[in-house]
Amino acid sequence: MRILVTGGAGYVGSVTVERLVRAGHRVVAIDSLVTGHRDAVVPEARLVEATLRDREPLERLLRDEGIEAVLHCAARSLVGQSAAEPALYYGENVAGGIGLLDAMIAAGVRRIVFSSTAAVYGAPSSVPIREDAVLAPINPYGETKRTFEGAIRWYGEAYGLRGVALRYFNVAGASERNGEQHEPETHLVPNVLAAALGRRSLTVFGTDYPTADGTCIRDYIHVEDLADAHLSALELTEADPSSPGAGLTVCNLGSGTGFSVLAVIRAAETVVGHAIPYATGPRRPGDPPALVASNDRARELLGWIPRLGSLDEMIGSAWAWRLEHPEGYAA
Ligand code: UFG
Repeated sequence: MRILVTGGAGYVGSVTVERLVRAGHRVVAIDSLVTGHRDAVVPEARLVEATLRDREPLERLLRDEGIEAVLHCAARSLVGQSAAEPALYYGENVAGGIGLLDAMIAAGVRRIVFSSTAAVYGAPSSVPIREDAVLAPINPYGETKRTFEGAIRWYGEAYGLRGVALRYFNVAGASERNGEQHEPETHLVPNVLAAALGRRSLTVFGTDYPTADGTCIRDYIHVEDLADAHLSALELTEADPSSPGAGLTVCNLGSGTGFSVLAVIRAAETVVGHAIPYATGPRRPGDPPALVASNDRARELLGWIPRLGSLDEMIGSAWAWRLEHPEGYAA
């Protein structure tokens, strides 16, 4: 199939592009390269450097490349930054996304898989979280993702778009070729590994949460498992006369198991083979105590089973990538 991956030079996008190419698809990656990395895109895919805001060139690209489906991974995705600069998040995650949908409708492309997030749930009162839980985002990042899910739903009903929104929980790990590199880096696993290398100090944000060891619990999912789920989601968007029709299907993507911040540090110590120094500090604003997915729907609808669900596999692959790329991507 001919597939456009927006944000194809980013962390999740680049590993998904690799996976699609391996499955025999023809892939065009579009990325502004503001946060993505040129070197993360496998040479078998075409990389187009552009934003999603200009409808006309996007529509032309969809037509010229004969694109049949879009994986929409491009987004701003830092929770703290979203609170400080909501304009950036509404501009790229909502307005950019609408530019993409309009171009798709004009070019006759009707299939979309969207990178959504567990942040749409806010701070849920209980876990595991099912897809029908109340959506109550507590930051502009989660809000913009929820807004765009709504846009796909309504566009779907009006214009015959078929969409799947994948609500990612905490993505971690690396493929052999591509890994996680954000600037600034705020995520736990890369920060723990940077501390293991003595490249930065590590602070555990909050030790007084109502959890067994007082630190936050998250559901970590391997980026390669996530890439697999995109392939299955793509199949779900295929027009099927026996299925309910256009609109939006949402699916959580998590392993269904929660690990505390301290458990992640302990697992990383085993991987790297030595103690990792850390300090404890106050809670980080906006962090919910526990986020764990119910992944029943993903298993049922996508036939998806996380294969690399252990912390060892996620942290081990992230560590291997980091050792292989001590300075990260060159470009
Ligand atoms: N943490 C630390 N120290 C650090 C970094 C993180 O203690 O240096 C803690 C956080 O306080 C949190 C946990 O580790 O309790 C995980 O934090 P991350 O920043 O790695 O991830 P988040 O859970 O905050 O957010 C991630 C994605 C969001 C997504 C969310 C959904 O970044 O986009 O998962 O679960 F919405």
